[in-house]
Amino acid sequence: MQLLQFQAKWATLSLWLSLLLLLGGQPTPTEAVIEDVLDIIHIVKEVTTGVLKAWDVVQSSPLAANIEFPLMREKQRKVLQRLKEVSRQIDETEAQHSQYVALAIESVNNFISRNVPLMAKMNEISDTMNRISSRYQQMQNYETHKDKLEMSTLITFAEWTVSPNAYSVHHLMERLHLTLLGNGNDEKINSSSSNLLSQLAASYEVSADEMCHTKQSAQQFVYSLYTDIALTELKGYTMMEFSWMMLRVYGRGNFSQEAELMRRDYEKRTERTLKLLKEVMRRSDRIVWRCDPEHFVLNKTYDEVTRLLQGYIENEVDLNADETCRETCSFYQSTRSEGCFKEYFCARQPKCTGRLYNCQFVDSDMWVCPAARNSTRRYEYIEYENGRVLGRRQRCVRGTTKVDSWWRYLFWHCSYCFCLCDEQGLKSDRFFNLRESVADVKKNNVVTGLRFVKRNRVFHLQIQEGQLLPRGAINESTLSWKPVDEYKIYDRNVAKGIDYHTLSYESRSIDLDDIMKTDDYSFVVTGLRFRVLGAHLNLEARLTEFDFTKGELIQPEVNSVWQSNDNTDVSGERRQKINIYNADVPTRSVVTSIPMSKHNQYIEFVNSGMDKDAAQSTVPFLDIQDVVSQPPVPLAGIGLYYKGRPGYGGFLAPKIITYDFTPHVQVPKNIN
Ligand SMILES: *[C@@H]1O[C@H](CO)[C@@H](O)[C@H](O)[C@H]1NC(C)=O
Ligand SMILES: *[C@@H]1O[C@H](CO)[C@@H](O)[C@H](O)[C@H]1NC(C)=O
Ligand SMILES: *[C@@H]1O[C@H](CO)[C@@H](O)[C@H](O)[C@H]1NC(C)=O
Ligand SMILES: *[C@@H]1O[C@H](CO)[C@@H](O)[C@H](O)[C@H]1NC(C)=O
Ligand SMILES: *[C@@H]1O[C@H](CO)[C@@H](O)[C@H](O)[C@H]1NC(C)=O
Repeated sequence: MQLLQFQAKWATLSLWLSLLLLLGGQPTPTEAVIEDVLDIIHIVKEVTTGVLKAWDVVQSSPLAANIEFPLMREKQRKVLQRLKEVSRQIDETEAQHSQYVALAIESVNNFISRNVPLMAKMNEISDTMNRISSRYQQMQNYETHKDKLEMSTLITFAEWTVSPNAYSVHHLMERLHLTLLGNGNDEKINSSSSNLLSQLAASYEVSADEMCHTKQSAQQFVYSLYTDIALTELKGYTMMEFSWMMLRVYGRGNFSQEAELMRRDYEKRTERTLKLLKEVMRRSDRIVWRCDPEHFVLNKTYDEVTRLLQGYIENEVDLNADETCRETCSFYQSTRSEGCFKEYFCARQPKCTGRLYNCQFVDSDMWVCPAARNSTRRYEYIEYENGRVLGRRQRCVRGTTKVDSWWRYLFWHCSYCFCLCDEQGLKSDRFFNLRESVADVKKNNVVTGLRFVKRNRVFHLQIQEGQLLPRGAINESTLSWKPVDEYKIYDRNVAKGIDYHTLSYESRSIDLDDIMKTDDYSFVVTGLRFRVLGAHLNLEARLTEFDFTKGELIQPEVNSVWQSNDNTDVSGERRQKINIYNADVPTRSVVTSIPMSKHNQYIEFVNSGMDKDAAQSTVPFLDIQDVVSQPPVPLAGIGLYYKGRPGYGGFLAPKIITYDFTPHVQVPKNIN
């Protein structure tokens, strides 16, 4: 009896002693099993393979009770070495994903707060997961308190972990699975009502606010949640395996059969969960777009095309070369300012030197409030004698000017007309870069994000690039925004139509497309450029073939294509125009913008509304916020879209389409 106790104490001591030695030593790397699957599935497989190998140590010899002490000690050392490696792997993976998982979980808590049944389920899941994780932590903590531990503590822990009672890890694992999938059979996986993952995915997709915050596409969100669950299951599984092993090492029995049963359960559950995950991910959106900022700030959250078509007052007498007033304003649909008759109002405002379009008569007499000299507006507002006000009436800093039409020979009325002026000049920023922007493919970089920037009056669609890693990951320390070509339009060797496009009355449309390959998931975005197609600006994406498992672009010089939507109109699937009519300046909207365009549409830059803004601005504005995802991932595609609210001019903005991970959700071959 005495001897037995002594032996037991000694065993515990030596066990932790050997563990201590291990900490300093190099852990033997587990054999890398390269497979075409998602990161987390890969880790699960690596860990479970590692765990199983640990059994070799235990199984190869007779039961511990019958063996000699040094041999038993050696076995413990080996088993614990494996445990250490395995939990290091789990911890590392957890640390890698924790930030994104936290975002996803926080977002779940936000948007389900009004859905009581869903919340109850979610609470149950997190409660179960917390219990498993805290037991797991306890196991890891034993290492810290190794000196004070009795062998019986370890045995009790092991017994508790695998026992069939309601608080054991064994039971918690089953409960977790049940809450997640419901108790339905496999057919029910496809109906969204029965399982938590698809319910959460559906709620996430309809709640734009959540995506704004997490910057995860719905598919990334689902994957983040799954990662959390899979890691918890893995912890539970690992605890159980090692518990059986320890019990066996301590001579409490054989337990091969029990462990085998547990393993089958785990495999079956993993298989079912993966099936569900695949289905939910397949149906989830992969788009990340940027919601409106809290406050709109020029040159920080948005920028503008300026003075493309701008409201302009001109008297009929100056709209024709003969200085006559025989027509009405609306006769002049496309003309130019021909002179300045008797230096009336025309002499008191900067002349429109471009063409004038769509003139109309509003009322004969008016007060004009000119805008500040450094402004891109011409007028703050115009107030007619009949009471109609164009723009927002406010205190007029420079003082209003009274402008009256006049009669000539009693029957010709020389009216002041309200026209649209298309004038190029230093105040008119209307240029779009046409040079291509490509990631540094030699460094294995791919595009991970987009944003518009205006440099030297030219709009560029800037790319964020990052180094591609295995299994669709991006090396976050390499992320950077590729500097844009900072040329000026008047530089030598810079040519209109080649380096940049100039918007004009005749050519001011931009195509709104999602550019990606729909039939081939082995391509990712490595660059972009604009071209002019049928007078429309049209976005092209450069797609390059890559090896998912290795995380390498495959000969990018050879295996890259420029992809675009070449639809210029014709029959069948005609490009649809999004009309902005009589819109106010978008930054005045009190409600946040929502996406209002679909693939295969286009929008025209146009003047803001006559009544709302005296047609002084150009809409849509451009949203210039960064569009990136968290975590960064390779992109299957990119796009342009229009967001706004009826009555407001809205914003043109880029979006990204995250790489489709669905094909890589599969049960790994021979899990053990
Ligand atoms: C443990 O049980 C398994 C299956 O029941 C058996 O094949 C194996 O020989 C047993 N091992 C020992 C050491 O008894
Ligand atoms: C779920 O639906 C998809 C396609 O809609 C189908 O391929 C799959 O077999 C279905 N799964 C089940 C379990 O019915
Ligand atoms: C816009 O902001 C950038 C830096 O964010 C600055 O360099 C640039 O001068 C600003 N442009 C204007 C017109 O204020
Ligand atoms: C114009 O100048 C005034 C002061 O001189 C300044 O407050 C204002 O911000 C400027 N506006 C623009 C659009 O640069
Ligand atoms: C990520 O990039 C950094 C900096 O370039 C590099 O030192 C590191 O090795 C990279 N990580 C991987 C996993 O390639």
